Amino acid sequence: MDLTRRQLLGRTGLAGAGLLLPPAFGRWRVVAQDPGELPAPSPRVARFERLGFGMFVHWGLYSQLGRGEWTMNLHGVPKAEYAGLMQTFTAADFNGRELARLAKRAGMKYVTHTSRHHEGFSLYDTRGLSKWDVTNTPCKRDLIADFTEGCRAEGIVPMLYCTTLDWTDERFQSDWKGYQQYLRASVELLCTQYGPIGGFWFDGNWSRKDADWEEDALYGLIRKHQPQALIINNTGLGAGGEIGHPEIDSTTFERGRPEPVDRHGHPKWVAGEMCHTLNFHWGIAVKDFNYLSPAHVIEELCGCRRAGANLLMNVGPTATGAVPPYETALLEKVGDWIRLHGGDQGPLYRGLPAGIQGEGRDFGLRLGDEVYLFVHDLTLTADTRAHAQSRGPGARPFAGLDDDWKTATWLDDGEALKLVRWGDGRLVLHATKYPYGTNTVVRVARLKA
Ligand code: GLC
Repeated sequence: MDLTRRQLLGRTGLAGAGLLLPPAFGRWRVVAQDPGELPAPSPRVARFERLGFGMFVHWGLYSQLGRGEWTMNLHGVPKAEYAGLMQTFTAADFNGRELARLAKRAGMKYVTHTSRHHEGFSLYDTRGLSKWDVTNTPCKRDLIADFTEGCRAEGIVPMLYCTTLDWTDERFQSDWKGYQQYLRASVELLCTQYGPIGGFWFDGNWSRKDADWEEDALYGLIRKHQPQALIINNTGLGAGGEIGHPEIDSTTFERGRPEPVDRHGHPKWVAGEMCHTLNFHWGIAVKDFNYLSPAHVIEELCGCRRAGANLLMNVGPTATGAVPPYETALLEKVGDWIRLHGGDQGPLYRGLPAGIQGEGRDFGLRLGDEVYLFVHDLTLTADTRAHAQSRGPGARPFAGLDDDWKTATWLDDGEALKLVRWGDGRLVLHATKYPYGTNTVVRVARLKA
């Protein structure tokens, strides 16, 4: 039983009811009508969806100040003073290959690195397009070349974040057409000087909602030079997955929550990606102690995959370009969890949403003729006088599993689990407690027919 994607989404059981459907391009909305045709994902979109988990990197001049990437704007730093940061930008600890190795250990398959952020400073040689670039710092290396080569050497897909909003380039204020040409010339360099790029991640159109961003021309360049590259444009906090231009290949949910979507009736199959920070800033903020835990990141990752969306998790390197030790350790821990749950070729990357829904946060993904059930909030086998209990083991019912499922085993230790069918048609997994000495936050069971 090898189901195609079309059949999978046909199995959501939502057809005919009030469907969660977006209009042609725009916010998701609920409609109650004929769901229409299901579009097929283009090869580049399908490839992106299989990448599953990526690393976002925010790094620039601002990293030397250690108070977030918006510091110039929010702390009102004058341009002349800010420009002084060019003189001290050494990138002494930046190593694209090391970054890619960390991504790999974390189970991440792509890295989206800032090439230029809102401050207007480019980490690459702009070949005279702007003075605010890495060639005019003591570093003297083209860091985007280092990054893209490092990624490819490790089998990691490099993607590039490009700001569309610019706080320092005069043209952004006084010569809109000129600014658009500068932006396109910059992107054309990124398209032609650094080999195959997995995708371009634009950010900033939300700053002037009514302006003409000349997106046709910008995206046309990418389609011309890098036809395999994905095009993303962050619609901003609170937009909740708004799509924007028809060339966009993936929606973004900035620190949001992607929900499973039935794509019948869409003009094209658009992927989903949720970006998140490990604390509350994208660029390093040394006084931000409000960090996520590995458990939280594991749950976020599962929450994204439940909806078929990718998770793009941000790190904020130091002034000199090293990933802070806590962030490194946290991501490595998440990588250990992924290796325990099928690793590289497992359900996290290749499993597809197929309308399998448990109670609470529990859900299932289908991979070929198998199903993987993701079970949350299990307890430890332990002395209950000494260990706090959360929602426990026992019956975990799942809807959307009509076939005759014969065996169920935990992925982490191979223990066989009981399956029964309830009168209401749901399939019930009898989840056991964590063996003492383990607690994997979300536990995954494999079902075979
Ligand atoms: C916002 C911020 C920006 C950050 C981005 C990441 O748009 O302006 O600093 O790069 O979100 O999603």
